[in-house]
Amino acid sequence: MQVLGIESSCDETAAALYCTEGGLLAHQVYSQVALHDAYGGVVPELASRDHVRKLTPLVRAALAQADRTLTELDGVAYTAGPGLAGALLVGAVGARALAFGAGLPAIGVNHLEGHVLAPLLEDPAPAFPFLCLLVSGGHTEIVAVHGVGRYELLGGTLDDATGEAFDKTAKLIGLGYPGGAALSALAREGDSEAFRFPRPMTDRPGLQMSFSGLKTAAITQYREAGESARADIAASFQAAVVDTLVIKVRRALEQTGLKRVVVAGGVGANRVLRAELAALAERVGGECYYPRAEFCTDNAAMIALVGALRLDAGERNDDLGAGVRPRWPLDTLQPPAAAG
Ligand code: KG4
Ligand code: ZN
Repeated sequence: MQVLGIESSCDETAAALYCTEGGLLAHQVYSQVALHDAYGGVVPELASRDHVRKLTPLVRAALAQADRTLTELDGVAYTAGPGLAGALLVGAVGARALAFGAGLPAIGVNHLEGHVLAPLLEDPAPAFPFLCLLVSGGHTEIVAVHGVGRYELLGGTLDDATGEAFDKTAKLIGLGYPGGAALSALAREGDSEAFRFPRPMTDRPGLQMSFSGLKTAAITQYREAGESARADIAASFQAAVVDTLVIKVRRALEQTGLKRVVVAGGVGANRVLRAELAALAERVGGECYYPRAEFCTDNAAMIALVGALRLDAGERNDDLGAGVRPRWPLDTLQPPAAAG
């Protein structure tokens, strides 16, 4: 089964082709980061308009890369939520129109399910069940993944998402937006023990997290220590976030008895986090899997993959409504057969 995937939930427009037999055939991403940079965050209306401009060229480029025409495919998958309503609608309407025109089934995919299953794009892929740490600009969740559509939410953040905490702190110390990657690059030049940031909520049992206090700690240190301490602040902040995540993941492994850990979402591109989680997995006699960085950040390969798995299992939703779900929690999903 060959499926076109379309992603437009936030500030990346993407198109990809995934084949259940041959794997990923094409994958194209356009990032709007430069467009939103001047505003210090994503401007929803600008995002929607830019998706309109980029969607068709990206779909064409993905089809050309895979040397396929639309009518040779078996379905079209698109991100139906969660995300920005207007941005999601562009992808949903575009995908439904393409599918209708080519006589193909279309399927709305949950973006978080895309992130959670993105490691299946890699070889070796993790076998079910596994524990997934989903850390992105909008989400921080620890999920027991029992199979496709079988997600048990074990813990999450009470306030800022991990990527949001990285981005806000980066902005406060003058690194632009979104500054997560820039902050982690700067951290490489700093001393992670120069400042002692809190490890929020690690002194209490449970898997809940809170990252909003860390940016306040960072700005306080920055005001006191000044510009020259930026790299040390970045390194110390990153160490606090990574330590906190690792402590919570260790608890989740103990609680569930799971041995395989998967890191997904944009912050999963962070090298220190990857190394610490790999070390943790080794300590508990398990394994750590992470998709390559381009499949951690928003992409359509993960959407095409989920669409292909669900369409292949017989799931259909062919009413022409292109409804989107700006809020769509992961643990409300069903396995394909039940959701059809
Ligand atoms: O998954 P993603 O592309 O978009 C969302 O669905 O949110 O994640 C983007 C987030 C941003 O907050 C970005 O700053 C963060 O991932 N990020 C990083 C790194 N690379 C991207 N955070 C920390 N370290 C990185 N290397
Ligand atoms: Zn995402």
